[in-house]
Amino acid sequence: MAGQIPQTFIDDLLGRVDVVEVVGERVQLKKSGRNYSGLCPFHQEKTPSFTVSADKQFYHCFGCGAHGNALRFLMEYDKLPFPEAVEQLAGRMGIEVPREGADDPREREREQKRKQGVNLLELAASFYRERLVMQEGQAAQHYLAERGLSPEVIKTYGVGYAPAGWESLKQHLSERGVSEAVQVEYGLLIHREDTGRSYDRFRDRVMFPIRDLRGRTIAFGGRVLGDGKPKYLNSPETPVFHKGRELYGLYEARQSPEKLEQLVMVEGYMDVVALAQFGIRNAVATLGTATTEDHLKRLFRLVSRVVFCFDGDRAGRQAASRALETALPQMIDGREARFLFLPEGDDPDDLVRREGAQEFKDRVTCAMPLSEFLFEQASQGRDLSSVEGRERFANHVLTALNQVPEGMLKSLLLEELAKRSGLREAQLEALLEKRAAKTSAMSGGAKEQSQASEFAQEEAIAPEPVGYDAPRRTGVLSPVARVLQLLLHEPRLVEAVDEPLDWLPDSADGNLCRELIALLKAGRYRSPQVLLAHFQGSQQGQTLAELARRELLIPKAAREEELKGMMAHLQQLQRKRSPEQEYEALIAHERAGQKLDNAQRARLARLVVELAQR
Ligand code: UTP
Ligand code: MN
Repeated sequence: MAGQIPQTFIDDLLGRVDVVEVVGERVQLKKSGRNYSGLCPFHQEKTPSFTVSADKQFYHCFGCGAHGNALRFLMEYDKLPFPEAVEQLAGRMGIEVPREGADDPREREREQKRKQGVNLLELAASFYRERLVMQEGQAAQHYLAERGLSPEVIKTYGVGYAPAGWESLKQHLSERGVSEAVQVEYGLLIHREDTGRSYDRFRDRVMFPIRDLRGRTIAFGGRVLGDGKPKYLNSPETPVFHKGRELYGLYEARQSPEKLEQLVMVEGYMDVVALAQFGIRNAVATLGTATTEDHLKRLFRLVSRVVFCFDGDRAGRQAASRALETALPQMIDGREARFLFLPEGDDPDDLVRREGAQEFKDRVTCAMPLSEFLFEQASQGRDLSSVEGRERFANHVLTALNQVPEGMLKSLLLEELAKRSGLREAQLEALLEKRAAKTSAMSGGAKEQSQASEFAQEEAIAPEPVGYDAPRRTGVLSPVARVLQLLLHEPRLVEAVDEPLDWLPDSADGNLCRELIALLKAGRYRSPQVLLAHFQGSQQGQTLAELARRELLIPKAAREEELKGMMAHLQQLQRKRSPEQEYEALIAHERAGQKLDNAQRARLARLVVELAQR
């Protein structure tokens, strides 16, 4: 990777990433006014003094003075050197980092092309906007008027018109020096292999620019004016556009002067625009795909409540089920998801025009909570008056619960399930533990099927491990690795750890364990993700990542006992060392400035006598 990264590239990159997103992936942020705040990851604190500004694109901590942009944050938090931090940021945008090889003309060419691409989409967007108000855009204007779109909302969303010709945009861009290859790469032209010619992808369509969080056009959606097919045409995947990540209307929603508290997920471009026209500015749409994990992560970084809108028909219910499944793992405490089912055959566009804004807002307010939808689904087609029916019902819910992160929602759902299924909560909890164990024991994290037979599942018990740093891949963990794994999965267990840590051997894992315990005791790290991030990129990070992937095969209630057992076991192993080794270890301990406890002091005294007598 020779060569400097061009400054222009870095400027451009910083212009495209959102520091709120980058920080929000690692620190839990809450919106407060125009800014976001949270607990500072760079020093220990109980009340948030860490602020992230979306407008200024920097973070600042009033407690410790940490300060910088997205790049700086990655360097500090992930402990990355500058070039790696740039690579990381660029990678998430799907952009390759150019290097000033000077003597590498291909590099220069690529850099040139990329820059062109960025400007090109903006050029195209203004081209489409201009055409809409020209003579050739009259039919399109008429169409938009007929669909009831106001001039204001057309302006806010930058709606335009792609002329009917085969080379209108191509000609326009080529005249401005944009190469055809770049136009093809960014999805504006279609290249035909057989004839070797290229032509405009979007022709005679109303054009909706899709913008990133900074408001730059990254792709387009185009609708035919009449009943032609396909009804909507979207840009293909390009270096700056990834369908499974982007949401139509998100930029515009954030521009709204009102405080963004929840986002409403709808299906189409027209729904977003129509709702906005009626003053409902917080709707976003996926781009002809199902809701992905990436979509939800983005939304929940901005707001704590997401309301999914679906058509009330069968297909709509099915789409809702898929959305529910995607949402479950995201439901950490403080987040809320709701499901809004519209009358069959209506979409938000139709509805808001027919019923008005207030009615629609009321529908959103009354949308079905996630829990209700989950229970409704689980009872679908089941006879809850029979034992078997209730078992299957419970099974369905437990499968879903398995996906929910630990927290309030999970325990409330469990409580509710006990009520509705007639099974005892403790019984359900045990089943849930078993399921968690089973899911993780299955290779590749394959999803389990809901089957009543799982009620009779056996508990997996690991055999007694041997040695200190025994290999992990064989399936049995060494005692130290086991301790690491327990602490990693359940950081709160650190409270049960015996100090001094002389039960830990002087091995690689032993030292890692010491470091991990020190970090946890300092209270800065509360979740496995943050711990992993701390060690990311090192050998130790790899060890921990491997351990994190192995689920704990024991129920929650027994974990502390397990940890204590492991510590006692290690203590015993340590005692089996030669007296010289033990003496050395105790002395080293003291020299390191750690106090010996009574037992250790007594042991040291005995050892001195013992060794002197030899
Ligand atoms: P719909 O077919 O429900 O259209 O597609 P709509 O939003 O009601 O549009 P109008 O009111 O007829 O204009 C919903 C979404 O699915 C994607 C688009 O993102 C669209 O907004 N879609 C639909 C496509 O990508 N391609 C298509 O051919 C149709
Ligand atoms: Mn519609």
